[in-house]
Amino acid sequence: MPRVFSAETGMRFHSFLIAIACVLFLGGSSVVAQPKGFNYDESKVPKFELPDSLIFDDGSPVKSVADWKKRRAEVLQLFRDHVYGNAPKLRGGLKVKLLSEEEALDGLAIRKQVRIQLTDKPYGPRFDLLIYRPAAAKKAVPAILGYNFYGNHTIHPDPGIVIHQSWSRNDKSKGVVNNRATEAGRGSRQSRWAVEMILKRGYALATIYYGDVEPDHKDGWEDSTRSYYLAPGRSKPAPTDWGAIGAWATGLSRALDYLGTDRSINEKQVVVFGHSRLGKTSLWTGASDERFAITISNNSGCGGAALSRRRFGETVKRINTVFPHWFNDRFNRYNENENDCPVDQHMLVALMAPRPVYIASAEEDRWADPNGEFLSGKHADPVYALFDKVGVGVDKQPGLDQPVGDTIGYHVRTGGHEVKDYDWEQYLNFADRHFGRTPKEPGSTKMKPVKK
Ligand code: GCU
Repeated sequence: MPRVFSAETGMRFHSFLIAIACVLFLGGSSVVAQPKGFNYDESKVPKFELPDSLIFDDGSPVKSVADWKKRRAEVLQLFRDHVYGNAPKLRGGLKVKLLSEEEALDGLAIRKQVRIQLTDKPYGPRFDLLIYRPAAAKKAVPAILGYNFYGNHTIHPDPGIVIHQSWSRNDKSKGVVNNRATEAGRGSRQSRWAVEMILKRGYALATIYYGDVEPDHKDGWEDSTRSYYLAPGRSKPAPTDWGAIGAWATGLSRALDYLGTDRSINEKQVVVFGHSRLGKTSLWTGASDERFAITISNNSGCGGAALSRRRFGETVKRINTVFPHWFNDRFNRYNENENDCPVDQHMLVALMAPRPVYIASAEEDRWADPNGEFLSGKHADPVYALFDKVGVGVDKQPGLDQPVGDTIGYHVRTGGHEVKDYDWEQYLNFADRHFGRTPKEPGSTKMKPVKK
């Protein structure tokens, strides 16, 4: 049953079993780098045919940008109905409480923290948005917005960051004890967040602890917007209702609503970023909310940038079994049956067109199928070509640490399932190029769009 919200939403104590399950869930980071019993051999990838982004459901071809606008609506709805679920419209206006706004990081940044409600009630689900912006900025700056896994306070040792009260996955190395975040976690994830680099390049960084929006376990929906927005008479989400990724995407859209009210941020230049499950989330967010200027997927893998039909590394069946709450229930139909799904992930990338999108893989992150992530980008190229834009623009996955692409950026980095400074450098170069912050890189305008 949906839980009744109290002022301290998210404070419920969950069973030991759930905590253990969630420790295992964190697999992708380091615990389960390459689980056994799955295919990691390119020669064993089954033969498959991808659904065509440029053919309407009734079989007629998409020939123009105007046609694509209609087809785009069809594809988006297919992803809602078969993969991520349908999200309701949030009720009520933006409800925000300013927690603090002051100079931080030795004068490099202004740190602002706001608490944002996700319902029309003063209690109920809410999240804290941490925003660092360059203190030296004279005008509105572009911003990068993304979730973090363990709390805003883990991205930097900055003592002024508010520590969340909501449920956290137990992990002593991140300072989480009895499912509560503590001071010991401050800065424990700073290696993944190039805060100073981002600020020095003139961007703001905005982040949210994803568990504020929905705790990441199978019963987490009871503590999130998903229970609050249940259709009347229902005791759990319907098979085509939103899953956790859908709920997280809605949180990012609400954060963007807020950024649009903050005059120090250029709301037309907000980049949505995410790693791994949160990279799946950033892709779905960029697809479902066209206000995001650029989408970045870091090592997002199955259900993110990787083509499901390849069955390389993580499969649809495995993800639906271990993480039954991420997608809608209908996605289970495609367990060991990917070819019947009316979409594959290249169509998710295509939903960004003509906006820029960056897909990053890591060499050792075979669980996430680096080549499958590249191929999603490549097979989105024909949709970009309709707009006379070059997407990835190359046919083969490039070598290690060799970024490629024009409107669809791609690289495969040396190393494992992580976010490294190298990744951030590429994202900032890409955003600079598309926001006109530096001259276009040589070569990028010479590429020819890939027509079908
Ligand atoms: C697991 C899961 C992946 C996910 C990853 C993560 O490994 O199988 O799909 O991307 O966790 O979010 O770290």
